[in-house]
Amino acid sequence: MFRTPKGTHDVLPEDHQYMTYIKKAVRHRARQAGYKRIETPMFENKAIFERGIGEHTDIVEKELFMVSGKKNDEDSAGLALRPEFTAGICRSYIEHGMHQLPQPVEFYSFGPCYRYDRPQKGRYRQFHQFDMEIIGLKDPSIDAQLILVISKILTDLKIRGRLKLQINNIGTTENRQAYIESLKDFFIGKERNLPELDQKRLKTNPLRLLDSKEEDTQIILKSAPVMDQFIDDDSKEFHSTLIGYLDELGVEYEKNATLVRGLDYYTQTVFEFWDESTGAQNAVGGGGRYDGLIELLGGRSTPGVGFAGGVERMIWHMKEAGVKAPFKDQVDVFVAQLGPEAKKKCLTLISDLRDRGVHTLGALGEASLKSQMRLADKFGARYTLLLGKMEVKSGTIIIKDMEAGKQQEIKFKEAIPTVLKFIGEENLDTYTLRDKFVDVDED
Ligand code: HAM
Repeated sequence: MFRTPKGTHDVLPEDHQYMTYIKKAVRHRARQAGYKRIETPMFENKAIFERGIGEHTDIVEKELFMVSGKKNDEDSAGLALRPEFTAGICRSYIEHGMHQLPQPVEFYSFGPCYRYDRPQKGRYRQFHQFDMEIIGLKDPSIDAQLILVISKILTDLKIRGRLKLQINNIGTTENRQAYIESLKDFFIGKERNLPELDQKRLKTNPLRLLDSKEEDTQIILKSAPVMDQFIDDDSKEFHSTLIGYLDELGVEYEKNATLVRGLDYYTQTVFEFWDESTGAQNAVGGGGRYDGLIELLGGRSTPGVGFAGGVERMIWHMKEAGVKAPFKDQVDVFVAQLGPEAKKKCLTLISDLRDRGVHTLGALGEASLKSQMRLADKFGARYTLLLGKMEVKSGTIIIKDMEAGKQQEIKFKEAIPTVLKFIGEENLDTYTLRDKFVDVDED
């Protein structure tokens, strides 16, 4: 039997209810705050991720999912599935000259990302993120507004209370470089006391030692230089202003001096939403400022700040919290029929009911009326319409309330108004394009 590839999963209809709910909450809050939707390709030139996220980050070094494309095809050489949205969105900003638009430009996106990690609980090779980015202006009020919008989305989804916002400022690129050098100096002669993985991290990405899970590393770190000593005054002021804004807005947070994040492009603000019980291991989302990224990717110096939420982890929390996503796939009417004449008439009836906003199933085969009724029951239909040979002759149809078990014979042409009356206007699933189209001048 074929199965989903390791680290992937089918989003079955039940989970889609949650996904749609999350998408709607994101879209709603994003629109309110002026974000526009952007869709970048699911794969990009891998150099974008190497340069942007950092060659020695876990995401790039170990987890990049390469695309092989067609055999020996030069075009597909060096392509990788996106492990996140930010680098691709910045590439798009540069490619389309978006610095000419009024700044800042605000984007949001929703879709699958890929990391070739060892799958475990809450960690998949294909997962979904919702992503928000604000590019082109630097001000602590922008960071505060972004954090507020995310906080509202998590509140809308009824999981904000389960999460703690961790926040830190990691200073400028220069500050970070100076700190990394001092960390390296500090560890000279102590390398052998570090676990193997952290010895490697010390060489490639020493900042990752700060959030190492290894006890030996944590003990040594107690006497290591702390980042705060290397952060310049402007960054400190930026951070305290941001904190002041968060207080003003009533956003709860926890200052966390060891929060560094696993992507190299960050400067200044970094933040994560942690599960109260499991902490960093399963952050529901994270983000921060990346004032050097666009320049790194070949654009002009442009500040940016953003966030991504892990959709699967959010769904897990919603389920844990007992949040029920609205169920909209109910079957309102099942149409059962017998004989070719009845079947023909039913096809139009089914189509008309659907157009009126009634979820309708029927005309599914040649089974007996009795077994069609059983099927209607299994589908959980609220009403069944029955059209047998007799009814076709007499121009009638039978409507049955499945819960009450009561049925009545009505005129065939009364079928639709009767169903609509029973179901109630407010429960109809009608879709109207409410937006007015801009008139097209034919001349
Ligand atoms: P990130 O922290 O790497 O940040 O990922 C954001 C979220 O995606 C994580 O907190 C987690 O919920 C989810 N996630 C990451 N990897 C996996 C996985 N293998 N399986 C399931 N869920 C996962 C970023 O991606 C940045 N681009 C965020 C950002 C946007 N920074 C600035 N703008």
